[in-house]
Amino acid sequence: MTLLRVRGLDVYKGFLEPARQAALIDALRPVLKAAPLFSPKVPGGGQMSVRMTSAGQFGWYSDASGYRYAEQHPSGRNWPEIPEAILEIWRQLTGQERAPECCLLNYYGEGARMGLHQDKDEADFSYPVVSISLGDDALFRIGNLSRGGKTESVWLNSGDAVVMGGDARLTYHGVDRIRFKSSRLLPKGGRINLTLRVVA
Ligand code: SIN
Ligand code: MN
Repeated sequence: MTLLRVRGLDVYKGFLEPARQAALIDALRPVLKAAPLFSPKVPGGGQMSVRMTSAGQFGWYSDASGYRYAEQHPSGRNWPEIPEAILEIWRQLTGQERAPECCLLNYYGEGARMGLHQDKDEADFSYPVVSISLGDDALFRIGNLSRGGKTESVWLNSGDAVVMGGDARLTYHGVDRIRFKSSRLLPKGGRINLTLRVVA
């Protein structure tokens, strides 16, 4: 494992060894079954190119009327619990007593991307955000605390983890593109990104 510090973010290259990555995919299968991926709409009428779902008390949700946390999947059912193997990563990387209340799962298929944004729908920014990459490589762009300015990009590979905390908690970030089928972790290709957050 190598720890990089990029614009205040901690980037743990090779944090999860291959066996642990495969175990996480196994742990996510029942989550995806209970809470299938959906394509969120965004204010303004578009649709995100990533598909998503969540585990935990809250799931991140978006539709024409805005971004927010919701206590139910669009099916009306509660989100499944966050698998223990994922909570373990949060404890390992943050040392926080408090458990995250949302594990957002973003799935990037071929051509999916995510524009620069801040994670700012949570009540308390003193808790960090932990992000875990599984599957295909992604070009992750890191900006500033306000929109615009110089940015820096880093490739995130399967098993990498990023912690956005402290003064960098509200840093703009996004995913320009993935290298589809660069990893064999997911049989059909693509990338899963998990973000763990304390919400309320
Ligand atoms: C996100 O910001 O929600 C996702 C970041 C990533 O996919 O690496
Ligand atoms: Mn984000």
